[in-house]
Amino acid sequence: MSFSAIVLAAGSGSRMHSALPKQYMPLEGKPVLYYSLKAFQESPVDEIVLVVPSGDEEYALKEIVCRFGFDKVHSIAAGQDTRAGSVLNGIKAAKSDHVLIHDSARAFVTGELIKRMMDAAVAFKAAAAAVPEKNTIKVADSDGYVTSTPDRSTLWEIQTPQGFEKDLLLEGYEKTGGMPSEKITDDAMVVELSGCSKVKLVMGEYTNIKITTPEDLEIGRMILKNRLTSGS
Ligand code: CTP
Ligand code: MG
Repeated sequence: MSFSAIVLAAGSGSRMHSALPKQYMPLEGKPVLYYSLKAFQESPVDEIVLVVPSGDEEYALKEIVCRFGFDKVHSIAAGQDTRAGSVLNGIKAAKSDHVLIHDSARAFVTGELIKRMMDAAVAFKAAAAAVPEKNTIKVADSDGYVTSTPDRSTLWEIQTPQGFEKDLLLEGYEKTGGMPSEKITDDAMVVELSGCSKVKLVMGEYTNIKITTPEDLEIGRMILKNRLTSGS
């Protein structure tokens, strides 16, 4: 049994409106990407595959992997235009029989959550971190009129890491090959749609936010400060 963590950092961060892609932006003196790589470096995974925009491989190797001594990063793969394409390139470079897919934009993932996801990937073959939805969610039509209000007690907000048997996830991607890849917003979805396995939800963490817009960096600073003062 072995685990590859696939850390995705090949997006352009368009909603951050910054010239520097968000994965390289500084947060308390370190690039955003540093934090999730550090969490996986210190976890029991066997290797890390880092996926960066095509052309950034040298930069990522020198300025992030070597600079911070992340020696579990065994390969740096080039991403593609869509997240699903970047995941596929990462899976191809992974050498283990199990994979954990993680968005580097979720910089505050903890070692405890990584371990929970590794256990769940083994036990259930396909598992996604998730937290119970706190807000009321409505479905609306294209004119903005509400069409329904799903029962909140059935709704979960999906996070990464998501853990899979590697071959099961690859099969899922093959079976959904005809689907426009921008419609694939997480990896659990391809396993759901393939029908090859059920996907188990595992309790995530409300602090495991995705850095998407500029105010998320402020929230991130607060999460890091809080960790420093609480010693965790
Ligand atoms: N990602 C990727 N390859 C892509 C698109 C996204 O590896 N073609 C990664 C991002 O780097 C990020 C994660 O997938 O860590 C989640 O995506 P998101 O938060 O949407 O990041 P971006 O796509 O970079 O941002 P935006 O959608 O605002 O452009
Ligand atoms: Mg995106």
